[in-house]
Amino acid sequence: MTTPPPVPLDPLYALDDAILEQRIQVAKAQLGESCVILGHHYQREEVYRFADLTGDSLKLARLASQRPQARYIVFCGVHFMAEVADILSGPDQIAILPDLAAGCSMADMADLPGVSAAWRDLGRILDMERTVTPITYVNSTADLKAFCGDHGGTVCTSSNAVRILQWAFEQREKVLFFPDQHLGRNSAVGLGIPLERIVVYHPDAGPLGGLSADQVRNARVILWEGFCSVHQMFQPAHVDLFRQRVPGVRIVVHPECSLEVCQKADVLGSTEQIQAAVRAAPPGSRFAIGTELNLVNRLQKEQPDKEIHFLCPTICMCSTMFRIDLQHLCWTLENLVAGHVVNPIQVPAREAASARVALERMLAVV
Ligand code: 13P
Ligand code: SF4
Repeated sequence: MTTPPPVPLDPLYALDDAILEQRIQVAKAQLGESCVILGHHYQREEVYRFADLTGDSLKLARLASQRPQARYIVFCGVHFMAEVADILSGPDQIAILPDLAAGCSMADMADLPGVSAAWRDLGRILDMERTVTPITYVNSTADLKAFCGDHGGTVCTSSNAVRILQWAFEQREKVLFFPDQHLGRNSAVGLGIPLERIVVYHPDAGPLGGLSADQVRNARVILWEGFCSVHQMFQPAHVDLFRQRVPGVRIVVHPECSLEVCQKADVLGSTEQIQAAVRAAPPGSRFAIGTELNLVNRLQKEQPDKEIHFLCPTICMCSTMFRIDLQHLCWTLENLVAGHVVNPIQVPAREAASARVALERMLAVV
């Protein structure tokens, strides 16, 4: 039997959503258990609906390794998530990202040459291997996870960062945390570390990332200068405004928001934890939520007996997550049915082995 030709993507943009949805359903049914679709909570609604399993980064990382019967893991999320799925899944499983342009701008803010150079640079002052644990936020490239695996470090997600920092301090006295300075700072403050012992390494600022030798010696946590372009939009003034305008409002934010915003909030949590907090509240509760818009819109629809506001007056969407649309999902699934694997995400074996060490250290802690 000859293999049918690959399904082209462009013509799918001429179709109505209803047709695409129907075609996705048919392809999904044909693939059956051989394919599992994972969906991150920021995914646009029309795509999220097709996910077999949904979650925050930690939950999805665990789920990626728990469907051994699925030969294909179609990840409706961003690139680093599909990499984690590839690293943690079995050798015969294939992780797929429906649109390769679905990256994460924060993950792009730290790369292996830059972090390795910082490690050497700080090594002029500190005994790095003995005194500093590298922690990478899961929103990072696989080679940085491998770096952590090779240097006694680990990975964290937004739902376990405080616990992972605690673990790190049980190993060594200091932490180098990348790429998200906000998650690192919020978690360190949550552990009671004073702000003067949390410093930022600016990779473009010359020797010691612009820090003095004394600042480096005194630091407990050295943060990389990264941030999320979506979560930086939320400002302390937005919290003040909702507190004035909405009596009894509870402010719930993602820890990628700045310290100033997080300190004014009632609840800090990952996307899964934000949803759980809203779902657990009694009817009539009022919330203003500081995280990506698709998640907030979904909660508004799902919990009509609660008053749910978006914390920012402007639209904050993850434009890279948004790249996964019905067309790319349809194209991915129909090609699998036709015997063609499009957009496989395959982390090189040596890198994957070291990254797996770092991820497994995390999974053993939480
Ligand atoms: P969660 O782990 O909370 O789902 O966050 C992922 C993310 O990219 C937030 O911007
Ligand atoms: Fe990356 Fe921010 Fe999008 Fe999360 S919301 S995937 S951190 S760009």
